[in-house]
Amino acid sequence: MSTMQKFVGWIDERFPLTANWKTHLSEYYAPKNFNFWYFFGSLALLVLVMQIVTGIFLTMNYKPDAALAFMSVEYIMRDVDWGWLIRYMHSTGASMFFVVVYLHMFRGLMYGSYRKPRELIWVFGMFLYLALMAEAFMGYLLPWGQMSYWGAQVIISLFGAIPVIGNDLSLWIRGDFVVSDATLNRFFAFHVIALPLVLVGLVAAHIIALHEVGSNNPDGIEIKKHKDPVTHIPLDGIPFHPYYTVKDIMGVVVFLMIFSAIVFFAPTFGGWFIEANNFIPANPLKTPPHIEPVWYFTPFYAILRAVPDKFLGVVAMGASVVIMFFLPWLDRSKVKSIRYRGTLYKSFLTVFVISFIALGYLGTQGVTVLTTNLARGFSVIYFAFFLLMPWYTKIDKTKPEPERVTG
Ligand code: HEM
Repeated sequence: MSTMQKFVGWIDERFPLTANWKTHLSEYYAPKNFNFWYFFGSLALLVLVMQIVTGIFLTMNYKPDAALAFMSVEYIMRDVDWGWLIRYMHSTGASMFFVVVYLHMFRGLMYGSYRKPRELIWVFGMFLYLALMAEAFMGYLLPWGQMSYWGAQVIISLFGAIPVIGNDLSLWIRGDFVVSDATLNRFFAFHVIALPLVLVGLVAAHIIALHEVGSNNPDGIEIKKHKDPVTHIPLDGIPFHPYYTVKDIMGVVVFLMIFSAIVFFAPTFGGWFIEANNFIPANPLKTPPHIEPVWYFTPFYAILRAVPDKFLGVVAMGASVVIMFFLPWLDRSKVKSIRYRGTLYKSFLTVFVISFIALGYLGTQGVTVLTTNLARGFSVIYFAFFLLMPWYTKIDKTKPEPERVTG
């Protein structure tokens, strides 16, 4: 027995190292037909780790103080060794996190990955999405630029629209009558420790739930239905390690190429990842002419603005996120994967994606009669996708599913 084997044996007698390696990697059998869409879970993990590591290094030089925050970020950019790289990796990472997570969620929609028995994977995913939105929103205040300041001011004041408790609630969130040093300090605490802990805990729950029931696949059929009678290994399953660890490395390489190209050549991404106004220090006395959130929030911002009444707008915006939690119970189709669904579901999904992108675009535009009316139309389609789902998934003409996974 080699020294290494003896060492691992010593650990195994005290800690289930090999047992966990087997359960979650070398003997975790994943469907053999994963495609491109299955890259995004591991990429989301990669981005999470990258955000935590770059975040730790940023925290070493950042000052959570309204008088010093903006300059401390400039100091990181100009004077700290490699500070510019760490900062741009973190700001690009924030946007790329949402790119990856949106594609990851869309995969779920295409292949019905939220359906029984994976409802909890989806629900944990939705909590992750909420935590991620809170994390991004609070992080955005920290550079204390004009958009940080006024974005937070607008969003927190929305809570003021809630009847009876609204004003007290927004006062409580800010810790002051306007966004101020108190707000910056508490957002810093949430951004650097509270929410990252929640995110890491939720990711663990997400993956434990996934490994309990096993992964779905592009055919949307259960590989556990056909097992080898002797070994009890699913006939269409392959060990996650080495097959998918190697496949995921390929995804990581392509992702890092795109990521580096952005970090090195277009870190503000034309104002989409960091807005020009955020290179101006926060000025509580001067409101910028256009206040808009970062792109990943704009679909929901457009829904908010589409409703004439402020309180009802807040309700519609909240509902547009909350409704996604219920997806596993709204879908009544006989099949899971888009491959075997009928024209109705395919049409609804296509129109939904177009609406989501259109709302995202409209949320970045100034308010005119045309943009407001368009946002109203697309908001109706957005909600119709979910609310009519029990009906159109039931009557949709589906194709028969294959017994075993294809291609
Ligand atoms: C920090 C964010 C997230 C991380 C790190 C993460 C990570 C992962 C990983 C590693 C997998 C397995 C690999 C794969 O199937 O791609 C997975 C699967 C899954 N995730 Fe996530 N995820 C995140 C957010 C979300 C969100 C926001 C949702 C949806 C609301 C979601 C829904 C799912 C579903 C349904 C599966 C199972 C897919 C299948 O088996 O077909 N995840 N996730």
